[in-house]
Amino acid sequence: MSISKLAVLGCGNIGSAIAKGLAKSGVTPANIILTHRKAESLSELNQAGFQTSDDNANAVQNSEIIFLTVGPSQLMDLLDEISSNLGRNHLLISIVSGVTIAEIQAKVGTEISIVRAMPNTAAALCESMTCLSSLPQFAQGLKTAQSLFDKVGNTLEIDETQMASATALCACGVAFFLRAIRAASQGGIEIGFHSDEAFTIAAQTARGAATLLLDNDSHPEAEIDKVTTPMGATIAGLNEMEHQGFSSAMIKGITTSTEKVTRLFNKD
Ligand SMILES: NC(=O)c1ccc[n+]([C@@H]2O[C@H](COP(=O)([O-])OP(=O)(O)OC[C@H]3O[C@@H](n4cnc5c(N)ncnc54)[C@H](OP(=O)(O)O)[C@@H]3O)[C@@H](O)[C@H]2O)c1
Repeated sequence: MSISKLAVLGCGNIGSAIAKGLAKSGVTPANIILTHRKAESLSELNQAGFQTSDDNANAVQNSEIIFLTVGPSQLMDLLDEISSNLGRNHLLISIVSGVTIAEIQAKVGTEISIVRAMPNTAAALCESMTCLSSLPQFAQGLKTAQSLFDKVGNTLEIDETQMASATALCACGVAFFLRAIRAASQGGIEIGFHSDEAFTIAAQTARGAATLLLDNDSHPEAEIDKVTTPMGATIAGLNEMEHQGFSSAMIKGITTSTEKVTRLFNKD
């Protein structure tokens, strides 16, 4: 399947992040069609070389791989709009939270390959974490989808029943870590750094911490042991954070988000 025939239908926050990431990874923007109800809202992406349009049916006719990136309540209308233009050569990659493959099949039939993907906005910088799932009969489609998301970050295949959890940890997760970085920089301001300095120090330190884990394939506690000397400042700060509920707050936030995703759509 050619990666030169891509469409992103309903190109908003996550759609444009995927498009930008694919372009950054070497896919020619002119070979990606982006749609939005108000195509003029995509003018910046059009200037960057992407094809832009408000015609979903035409985009489908001219593509093989179709990213569905509208909101959950908008997906069924979009599928109604494009279903007569879909054929067996199409691969649908749904980024939409809470809508199952079975529900998409109820609209488009069982012949068309469907994959669900849960990336995050860091796809724009090729640093997404993307969880993917599909059905056994769409193994080839899953492979194609994975190869595309590998271009914009890391990927993991999961069972479809874990998609709500992936939404919380992967998609919402960006916000959780950003809030942690903001909190660290606020602490930095209180101990004497200017706001811009504190943000730079906090964000680069967070990136370094994540890189230590990913590049060394190590566990957080193994890396923490390297910076906590007995009776030292790091362990004192860490323990105070735990007394204040740091880990508990993160865990509860993630479980609450998962419950919310599950409750909102009452399916996964
Ligand atoms: N944002 C994330 O980080 C993220 C991560 C993973 C998954 N997701 C999932 O991805 C989906 C999109 O999220 P988002 O944050 O990117 O939302 P978004 O910014 O609102 O983007 C969706 C866009 O699709 C447009 N649209 C709706 N129906 C359309 C149609 N029939 N034809 C053309 N355009 C249409 C919407 O336009 P209007 O504004 O006019 O309705 C909107 O601008 C959601 O299902 C979300 O759960 C999001």
